[in-house]
Parts: sequence; C-alpha cells; structure tokens
Amino acid sequence: MNDFLSLAKARQSDRAYDTTRPVEAEKLERILEAACLAPSACNAQPWRFVVITDSGLSEKVGKAAAGLGMNKFAATAPVHILIVEESANFTSILGGKVKDKHFPLIDIGIAAAHISLAAEDEGLGSCILGWFDEKEIKKLTGIPSSKRLLLDITIGYPVKEKRKKSRKDKEKVISYNKY
Ligand SMILES: Cc1cc2nc3c(=O)[nH]c(=O)nc-3n(C[C@H](O)[C@H](O)[C@H](O)COP(=O)(O)O)c2cc1C
Repeated sequence: MNDFLSLAKARQSDRAYDTTRPVEAEKLERILEAACLAPSACNAQPWRFVVITDSGLSEKVGKAAAGLGMNKFAATAPVHILIVEESANFTSILGGKVKDKHFPLIDIGIAAAHISLAAEDEGLGSCILGWFDEKEIKKLTGIPSSKRLLLDITIGYPVKEKRKKSRKDKEKVISYNKY
C-alpha cells in the first residue's frame, strides 16, 4: 500500500498517553518542521505554535481543556502544541474579503493535519482539541488576550490500541464531475 495512505489510516485521535515516557525533542522538532511546511493562502503562514513541554504547565493546560465531561485525558499529555492565529498578510486578507472566506482558519486546519500526521509518523499519538478554556490557557502561557487560540494538539506515546475507523460511506461524500 501507498505509504501516505497507510499513515492516514494509522493516525487516530489518541486519548490516553504513557505518562512515564517523555517525547524526544528531535521528534518534536521534526513535527514542528512539518507544521511550518504546511501550505497557506498567499503563503501568509498566519500561525504561531506554542509548544508546551514543561510537565507542570502541560498538566495545567490539559486541565484547562477539560470540562463538561470533555477532554479529561488532556491533563496526561506530556506535550501540547497550541496554535495561535496570527495576522495574515495583505493579499490573504484582501483575497478573503473579496471571496468572503477567512483563510487563516483553513490554513491552521491544514497545519494541524500536518502535525497530527507527522506525530503518527514518529510513532506518537495525538489529538486535536477545539474544546478548551481559551482564556485560561492564554493566561497560563502568556498568549495575548487579543489573539485567538484556535487549537490545542495533545501529543504523547499512546497506550491504547488502534480503533477501527468510523467514516461516512464514500458514495455519500465523493462525486465525480457533478455534485
Ligand atoms: C477541529 C477539531 C476539533 C476537535 N476537538 C476535539 C476535542 O475537543 N476533544 C476530542 O476528544 N477530540 C476532538 N477532535 C477529534 C475528533 O473527535 C476526531 O478527529 C474524530 O472523531 C475522528 O476520529 P479519529 O481522529 O480518531 O480518526 C477534534 C478534531 C478536530 C479536527
């Protein structure tokens, strides 16, 4: 099978991590390099990746992602990559206004995909989180309150088995040459 397809099939949202096993700095650097290589509208790269590796801070950030029964596992993740939306460049902003699309949201989604696939490629597990206490995490990490913290990606060595993928039938989401 094609290598990329195998990687895409293997990646899953891992929601339990080995708390005794730290993530190697070299692995993290390669994951972040992959993040920085993501495409973005007009190459604006409207992101900043705030990498949380300090164990005390990681736990606090993880706790700030938990609430209403969601994301309890996040406090056990040894690493969090927080993706902050930064200002896009003039052409991306102008193009977005003309076409009524906020490109940075799309750009950051693609960067998140690079991160989670790169983590899988390094033998690590990850989970993209959109549900967290944005204010609290900003306070903990010094992210200015004026900025949007869009995603938190937890990373660590997974402790659970791979699950079977649950996806819509291809016929429901793919069509050729017409809607
Ligand atoms: C933008 C976004 C936000 C997400 N937020 C959360 C979250 O807050 N908590 C969580 O456990 N999973 C979250 N997920 C993971 C999805 O639930 C998961 O990708 C989906 O169920 C498919 O499962 P899989 O990733 O294992 O293939 C999020 C995924 C994306 C792309």
